Amino acid sequence: MILHRHLGPYDTTAVGLGEMPLTLENNLGEATGIDTIHAALDAGCRHIDTAWAYYQSGGTEQAGERLVRKALDTWDGPHDEVTVATKVGHFRNFTDGVPTWDVDGRPERLIHDAKQSAQALGGHAIDLLYFHRPDPKVPYNESIEAIKQLVDEGVARYAGISNASVEQIDIALGILGDRLIAVQNQFSPIYRQSADTLAYTAKRGLSFVCWSPLGGYRKKKDAHKFDPFRAVAQRRGVSYQQVVLAWELAQGDHVFVIPGAHRPATILDSLHAGELELSAEDLAGLR
Ligand SMILES: NC(=O)c1ccc[n+]([C@@H]2O[C@H](COP(=O)([O-])OP(=O)(O)OC[C@H]3O[C@@H](n4cnc5c(N)ncnc54)[C@H](OP(=O)(O)O)[C@@H]3O)[C@@H](O)[C@H]2O)c1
Repeated sequence: MILHRHLGPYDTTAVGLGEMPLTLENNLGEATGIDTIHAALDAGCRHIDTAWAYYQSGGTEQAGERLVRKALDTWDGPHDEVTVATKVGHFRNFTDGVPTWDVDGRPERLIHDAKQSAQALGGHAIDLLYFHRPDPKVPYNESIEAIKQLVDEGVARYAGISNASVEQIDIALGILGDRLIAVQNQFSPIYRQSADTLAYTAKRGLSFVCWSPLGGYRKKKDAHKFDPFRAVAQRRGVSYQQVVLAWELAQGDHVFVIPGAHRPATILDSLHAGELELSAEDLAGLR
């Protein structure tokens, strides 16, 4: 049985689909993207993570949100069970011909982009809207006030913050109160620096969503950090990616993972991580 957890008021799957690889550079095209989202939904996945900025540099903005909408519009399963999260505050650039990311956390830009996100996703209130990343040029509270306005106006039902510190979680809680339900930070065997926010979200009754839970586009020098996970995987007869995701989910009942996938096979494997119970012996080897 696929593992469900409470993400604020939403009963959804602990393993969600990270949509980003389906619409960034080197994606495998729209048909494979839709097949991947359909395969995840058909297998019981009920949590999809996208963003206004998940498009190729120089390509059409909001390609990720549009792909999610197209996939949902052509899926005949129970739509009301699916939680779709998106984010505003990032955009793409070409810098010297190289695709890059930039931030814009000005309130007017966040409000403008979130309204576009709601339209792209189907014209109804966004289930969960994250402020994607703090903008050093804009006081954090001013960006969060814009997110509050969007929730107050019904553009989004609930709010989240991403790439946030403990101090920023406190600021956001002070402004958003119980409308803030989730913090999405990078966390994986090769990136444990956010462990303080993982622990803090549990204390404050918030969900913690791990981005790039499998290390994303990691550098080779860090690959050895997955060795202990490979050892457990071999003993248990599963992929090491399942072990990584199960270890992250074992950090607390408030934890969610959103592995990315370019193809159905990888998300279909990852979805089983919620069923993998790691023993005390397994966990001891991963500490
Ligand atoms: N909030 C933020 O600032 C932020 C930043 C980055 C990412 N994110 C979110 O986090 C999501 C996940 O991050 P990510 O896509 O960078 O990296 P990731 O989930 O750490 O890794 C994705 C890669 O792992 C592979 N993979 C996934 N499951 C697998 C399995 N069971 N077996 C073998 N390989 C597997 C995929 O392979 P294939 O390519 O073969 O399918 C893909 O290349 C994104 O999609 C996005 O939604 C958020």
